[in-house]
Amino acid sequence: MSLSSPPLPAAARTPVLQTKLPAVGTTIFTVMSALAAETGAVNLGQGFPDFHCDPALTQAVTDAMAEGLNQYPPMTGVAPLREAIAAKLDAWHGPHGGRHYDAATEITVTAGATQAIITAILAVVRPGDEVIVLDPCYDSYVPNIDLAGGTAVRVPLIPGSFRPDFDRIAAAIGPKTRAILINSPHNPSATVWRAADMRRLEEMLAPTDVLLISDEVYEHMVFDDQPHESAARYPGLAARAFIVSSFGKTYHVTGWKVGYVAAPAPLTAEFRKVHQFNVFTVNTPMQHALARYMADPRPYRELPAFYSAKRDLFRAGLARTRFRLLPSEGSYFQCVDISQLAVPERALGEAEFCQWLTREIGVAAIPLSAFYGDGFDQGVVRFCFAKKDETLQDALGRLARL
Ligand SMILES: Cc1ncc(COP(=O)(O)O)c(C=O)c1O
Repeated sequence: MSLSSPPLPAAARTPVLQTKLPAVGTTIFTVMSALAAETGAVNLGQGFPDFHCDPALTQAVTDAMAEGLNQYPPMTGVAPLREAIAAKLDAWHGPHGGRHYDAATEITVTAGATQAIITAILAVVRPGDEVIVLDPCYDSYVPNIDLAGGTAVRVPLIPGSFRPDFDRIAAAIGPKTRAILINSPHNPSATVWRAADMRRLEEMLAPTDVLLISDEVYEHMVFDDQPHESAARYPGLAARAFIVSSFGKTYHVTGWKVGYVAAPAPLTAEFRKVHQFNVFTVNTPMQHALARYMADPRPYRELPAFYSAKRDLFRAGLARTRFRLLPSEGSYFQCVDISQLAVPERALGEAEFCQWLTREIGVAAIPLSAFYGDGFDQGVVRFCFAKKDETLQDALGRLARL
């Protein structure tokens, strides 16, 4: 009698797949959050708030559900929300020369920024096209480009300052370039593009047909009275841009996965063709709730003060350690250089250092190398300060021995 199990009938065998995304494994965010949970560490790794959203917002969802707003909404998003988004963009960017977006033909509600970005890429990128991304960058961009059959051309931001390197961007633009993806305020470096950066990009793209995907999910988190230089404010950029934002970031509801895309009508028309067949619609009661909540601009106008207070609290505590603090101009991230720490572990690579920090010090962080195509390791890690003040104090207490 054979000890091995009898061969399965062919019909019961799972066919062997050739992966479409060979470079993709479990993300560092999942790995670090799991390690933080397992070790009881304070999780300053993954970027999400540990505090509640405004109860008025959850009440608005409850109200919408009770009113029976529970069936499929229009494919493009419910009209009151598209109108509220258009009105916000007018009020915010209009006085700075911002483009006006038509709620009916130029705004689409999406299942978060993640779906907005992949949909924009699938709508415009064809096999053989190149898309420029600026490293370090958010982890979904490159797999999205791969799925569209395009090639990501990774141009590094200037190491140390994380400012755009326009000479290298210009050198990367060629006949195959279909689009460039930018992100300000920037995850992970917390830098913010200035007016001069936007003008330079506008001039560079002017003679081309290169499209722009502008990831502005942290648009309402720019500190120290600096403006958010949206692509909407630069006519030469707005005319070619998909501008992406996320209510998850703005209203502390990352799990709701609702965002939007603003783009000129011809771009929106193509975007919607893909959107129609990848999500079709986004949950109805949340959309109505967000539309009602947006009638009051104070929650997003107050966001810079809210988050800069957290940033300042966190930085003041970190200043008592040997971490070297990088600027945090926007977003809810703070990067630190580990090279001067008083522990031998400073010599570890970023990823090993983050594991050590989580296990031994009890605070989870994310290595910047995770945001680079080539794993570039500069001894910098990222903390998220979208946390209750008590959480930040707890983390600072643990980090104090560094
Ligand atoms: C730069 C950037 N883009 C997009 C997203 C995704 O946003 P959403 O949760 O709305 O899909 C994130 C979330 O962390 C992000 O940091």
